[in-house]
Amino acid sequence: MQILVTGGAGFIGSNFIKFILKKYPNYKIINLDALTYCGNLKNLSEVENNSNYEFVYGDICDKKLVNALVKKVDCVVNFAAHSHVDNSIKSPEPFIKTNIEGVFNLLEASKEHNIEKFLQISTDEVYGSIEKGSFDENSPLNPSSPYSASKAGADMLVLSYFKTFNLRTLITRCSNNYGPNQYPEKLIPLCILNILKNKNVTLYGNGLNIRNWIYVDDHVNALDKVLHKGKIGEIYNIASDNYKTNLEVIYLILDYMKKDKNFIEFIKDRPGHDMRYSVTCDKIKKLDWQPEITFEKGIKSTVEWYLRNFDNITDCKTC
Ligand SMILES: NC(=O)c1ccc[n+]([C@@H]2O[C@H](COP(=O)([O-])OP(=O)(O)OC[C@H]3O[C@@H](n4cnc5c(N)ncnc54)[C@H](O)[C@@H]3O)[C@@H](O)[C@H]2O)c1
Repeated sequence: MQILVTGGAGFIGSNFIKFILKKYPNYKIINLDALTYCGNLKNLSEVENNSNYEFVYGDICDKKLVNALVKKVDCVVNFAAHSHVDNSIKSPEPFIKTNIEGVFNLLEASKEHNIEKFLQISTDEVYGSIEKGSFDENSPLNPSSPYSASKAGADMLVLSYFKTFNLRTLITRCSNNYGPNQYPEKLIPLCILNILKNKNVTLYGNGLNIRNWIYVDDHVNALDKVLHKGKIGEIYNIASDNYKTNLEVIYLILDYMKKDKNFIEFIKDRPGHDMRYSVTCDKIKKLDWQPEITFEKGIKSTVEWYLRNFDNITDCKTC
């Protein structure tokens, strides 16, 4: 199988590429990435000489390039996105461009070349906040930020290409990921790096917003199942059992790094800050998937990875 992975130099995409190349030695991957501030080829150093792997520098908004690459492959797996909510509040435009227009380009090329499968990596944030209970795949979309709205828009486009053009699409909506290679603008790596530099860890509001945390390997594993066993046209939620407030997450990291709570600084809440995300995963569990990594184990290996790689990690350019 030949796969075009877009956004593969980022956090989840790079973990996905390494996983697929290891598990399927006959698969070939082309990675198209624009190397924005959060894309990093060092995330892929262990596969850069693999003859089944090719990197192409470029933008999913570049129609000609996208068309030429999609022509060569059987499947498209789209990770490319602007993904940080805070940035989407400060400057929404790149989110609309990449997350919607870029997806449109990928869909058009996929339609033209009649590709076997189009997997769109979406997010649980498209459902918005839920105080109690969980959203399933049929729940209405109710995004709160320009980021989640752009992802919801992309999901709608993908579904329309399935219904109207019979494009063989799949969509996944995963909860918050953590693990190696995550750009340090996101809560967990930012917290670890700030502690290492003896800087404060800032938390929005009262720190009681709840997220479901999934280790990136569990997400990547789920994507493998969806790509190979998922029913065409369907949406699959992906999450773990690890519900934590942001404060609990920071306490665990401080505890693991043997630091006290004085490092925490509460700051004014961000506008439209969702209180709690939660999705059901009954559907993906029928594909013989379940999360394996407990939060305690995942955080330990994440902290250890950042300690080992501290010298190679660039400071957050957006914080
Ligand atoms: N991180 C999470 O917790 C999470 C959870 C659920 C879903 N997702 C989704 O998973 C995907 C990957 O997220 P991530 O955390 O790895 O993001 P990331 O920011 O680490 O990586 C995004 C990658 O996309 C590339 N990119 C951005 N714009 C591009 C463009 N126009 N053309 C080509 N490449 C471009 C970047 O250079 C980067 O390598 C996103 O679509 C995101 O919405 C993320």
